[in-house]
Amino acid sequence: MNETISLITNHRSVRSYTDEPVPGDDIRRAVEAGRMASTSSATQSYCLLHITRPGERQALAELCGPQQHIAACGAFFIVCGDTRRHRLLARRAGLRYDARLEAFLLAVIDATLFAQNLVLAFESMGYGICYIGGLRSNLPRIDRLLEIPEGIYPLYGLCVGVPAERPAERPRLNTECVLFEDRYPSDEHILRLADEYDARAPDWSARMVRKFTEPRRTDVGPYYRAKGADFA
Ligand SMILES: Cc1cc2nc3c(=O)[nH]c(=O)nc-3n(C[C@H](O)[C@H](O)[C@H](O)COP(=O)(O)O)c2cc1C
Repeated sequence: MNETISLITNHRSVRSYTDEPVPGDDIRRAVEAGRMASTSSATQSYCLLHITRPGERQALAELCGPQQHIAACGAFFIVCGDTRRHRLLARRAGLRYDARLEAFLLAVIDATLFAQNLVLAFESMGYGICYIGGLRSNLPRIDRLLEIPEGIYPLYGLCVGVPAERPAERPRLNTECVLFEDRYPSDEHILRLADEYDARAPDWSARMVRKFTEPRRTDVGPYYRAKGADFA
């Protein structure tokens, strides 16, 4: 164990925060660290929207759930894939931006590597965080609220603040469930390990079956397409 591994393994999602704000200097420091994440061919196709207007924070708290921690946390952000910069550069060069699935994936991957480094930087300063996938429950309305331009893909929100709780650790899949040597194991092996995990994380298999067999957030694809993504 070293300090970095201990920071990473101490992560908990925090949903209850004190009233303390997150100073701008701390935000800048975390973003500066986040920016140093690896990035595919230095494309850096992401941006971070810091939502500072209280009325918009409250509206987002409703539209993302409702999830009151969005209004109550010290600072709230939206992590976005950003292909707009590259689109503008292509347009200025008189060329057509080729926005196929690879460009979308690059943006999602780069944004997520940035976000997780940003999170670790905040956690290293003593802040708690909670990612907000609930953002994708209402993308068209959030888009109108925040006037998101073409080429920007809001992916998830991020609450940051001084923790007012220390949640219990949520058990993860065992290392044997995710680390394989050379070849992917048999289906029987995968299912047996999942059953073992259910003993520590009750109902996990049943929740996953529900999550991935019932249609959810069916407007997400059309929304990103409308923002300029091409999934061809
Ligand atoms: C992309 C993403 C979206 C998430 N969305 C939400 C959310 O909308 N609301 C929430 O309370 N937690 C959300 N979470 C937090 C997860 O529920 C949490 O990470 C998971 O249950 C494991 O718990 P832990 O982070 O405390 O270890 C999200 C996490 C991720 C990675």
